[in-house]
Amino acid sequence: MPGQLLFSSSSKQGSSCFVTNRSVMVDKCVGKSVPRKEGWEKVTGAALYVDDIVKPDMLHGATIRSTISRGKIDRITFEGDIPWDEFVIVTADDIPGENSTKMFVGEQPVLAKERVNHPEEPIVLIAHADPYLVRKARTQVKISYIEETPCLSIEDSLNKAPVVWGEDNLFKTIRINKGDVDAAQSEAEIIVEGEYFTGASEQLYIENNGMIGEYDAEEGVTVTGSMQCPYYVHPALCAVFNLPKNKVRVIQSDTGGGFGGKEDYPTIIAAHACLLAMKAGKPVKLIYDREEDMVATTKRHPSRTIIRSGHKKDGTLVFMDVDFALDGGAYMTLSPVVLSRGSIHAAGPYRCPNVKILGRAVATNYPPHGAYRGFGNPQSFFALERHMEKAAKQCGLTADEFRRRNFFREGDLTATQQVVQDRVDMRELLDQALEAADYHNKRERFKKENEGNPVKKGMGIAAFFHGSGFTGGGEQKMASIAGVEGTKDGKVRVLAASTEIGQGAKTIFSQIVADALKLPYDMIEVARPDTDDVPNSGPTVASRTCMVVGKLIQTASLALKQSLVQEGGLDEDYTPEQFAQACKDYVARNGKLRRYSQYEQPANIVWSDETYVGDAYGAYGWAIYVAEVSFDTRTYEARVNDFVALQEVGKVIHPIMAEGQVQGGVAQGIGYALYENIVWKNGRMMNGQMTNYIMPTAADLPVIRVLFAEQPYASGPQGAKGVGELPIDGPAPAIINAIEDATGVSVNQIPATPEILMKEMEAAGVC
Ligand code: MOS
Repeated sequence: MPGQLLFSSSSKQGSSCFVTNRSVMVDKCVGKSVPRKEGWEKVTGAALYVDDIVKPDMLHGATIRSTISRGKIDRITFEGDIPWDEFVIVTADDIPGENSTKMFVGEQPVLAKERVNHPEEPIVLIAHADPYLVRKARTQVKISYIEETPCLSIEDSLNKAPVVWGEDNLFKTIRINKGDVDAAQSEAEIIVEGEYFTGASEQLYIENNGMIGEYDAEEGVTVTGSMQCPYYVHPALCAVFNLPKNKVRVIQSDTGGGFGGKEDYPTIIAAHACLLAMKAGKPVKLIYDREEDMVATTKRHPSRTIIRSGHKKDGTLVFMDVDFALDGGAYMTLSPVVLSRGSIHAAGPYRCPNVKILGRAVATNYPPHGAYRGFGNPQSFFALERHMEKAAKQCGLTADEFRRRNFFREGDLTATQQVVQDRVDMRELLDQALEAADYHNKRERFKKENEGNPVKKGMGIAAFFHGSGFTGGGEQKMASIAGVEGTKDGKVRVLAASTEIGQGAKTIFSQIVADALKLPYDMIEVARPDTDDVPNSGPTVASRTCMVVGKLIQTASLALKQSLVQEGGLDEDYTPEQFAQACKDYVARNGKLRRYSQYEQPANIVWSDETYVGDAYGAYGWAIYVAEVSFDTRTYEARVNDFVALQEVGKVIHPIMAEGQVQGGVAQGIGYALYENIVWKNGRMMNGQMTNYIMPTAADLPVIRVLFAEQPYASGPQGAKGVGELPIDGPAPAIINAIEDATGVSVNQIPATPEILMKEMEAAGVC
């Protein structure tokens, strides 16, 4: 590991501890924890979230949803003491274009027309000027149904009991084959089998979903709201309203978190707000309260994974056979791409000559499951890293030695036969993480202390990796464009549809541009994502904003500089003042000064969507996480006492924000592992409140110690890769492995709530 460790724990954070001898750029701004670009507006309350925005004559809307999981709509009646003639009412019959929101891959109806396929499916929209009357009125729209038998589990769906989508309930099947798993059976001396389950979980961004729709017969539709992907909303509205591109405008208002939860569903809300606005002839605001947001919008796909692995006596992997299934819910939406990422990573960072992965996303009658940070990987790494624990035991090796023997080495092939290019040595990362966690000493000590103690402590490891950017040919198909503008005020303005959702996009873009142009950070501004103003830099997803869009912005910055030098007479060796003056002069003379850059696939990336062979991602982030957990045999509660998160994500652009990304991801991962349980009844979420959907608070979290190793990536801006999703992939298996270390009991289902742990411990006779 030639990179240096950056210890950015709170005691020594910031740029002062930054040590690297591999950096070739002049690091003026990148690598420093500069103030957040939008921080001032947020702390002073000047930032406007969608619910803060008021339009003249604005109405307030509400959505009436199905209460059953599957059936035909029989009758809709408007009852109670409500002045219904004052209301604007929209049903599927009011949709001028297609009753479908096309996602990146799948689709979903805007409003149910004759039948419903999941609880909380939108059927009727209402709006009125009085928001309190709207609240009362929504309870008085009565819908009766002719109910049909729903499909409510992965197993039932695979068994076609009943068929609820297509001919066989399969939204997508993926097969990855490397070597020959069947032929390798006889070579294996030890066979390990296991089955692993993960539950749904809710993104729980701070700001609920919301949109304001506006309609004008001349201008078309405009929507403003909370979202990750303006250019997912835009084509969908064109289709729903049957309008050309230039008659649809999508504007992102300041957005309080996304985590994948504002990737696809905002398109539905945007269509609803605009349908109401069109019928009303007035702007309509549609804001979800917390409960509606939790029960109706997407959650992480539940999963079931069966792994069979073969080993030599020394633990070496001979084959891996993985059957990975995701519950997609009632409509396809993003399930094929979530499945794709999860399947590609399912064999982990391990060298194995024979790998077979079968991935299936199945239809059920739950609300569609969707994107949530990690996008399929937290599911497949939970299964894999629990399985590796089991395999280590069966092979008679410790958790760390077993992994050390099996990690990728430089030049190895991944499951999709990609040559591992990253010069990252997982064995070295493992040693460093174990040392930081004091793993060996603590394990020894706990073994003694656990004797006769009702509270048992243990240590757990997870090793994992996460591809940055879209999978396979995704980036090439997207062909994103981003740009920069020299303004009439002599500033530089970033032009991208990539949204600030709290993750720091505005800040890192500004840092990258400041360094590319050798300008102070304060001279850089970032345009509000508005489809009338910024190009399609792609969705803000897939840990791609820094690595892919950041690189485009860096390239566009150099083009801008070149224009000013060649056409504007700017001296190559300019001062910031000269640069500003050159911008002002150029704009005064020629009008707008905008330069763009479009994504081009690096020539060495080759991928086939047909065979799933090739370079699945341009680069990967790599990580070893270590959890120290205590389990109370009297209350069945598990608690994380200490957590070390070591990762290699290329150049760290902003140390404090990167550390925050990791701490946030680990916190969400702890919730995923131990606390966040969705109570389903007939496909309906029954605990859609933060009082009964238990997420960890600060009191439940340990100090999360974050370490970075740096290995600059040639095609990333100043060597950066993605950091957004990686941190949620590893905590759950590390924690459950630690529970096994503490108690000897193998738990293969999350969330491992006290109820689940009680069942498992009692079955094993532990307590
Ligand atoms: Mo995402 S889970 O916003 O790629």
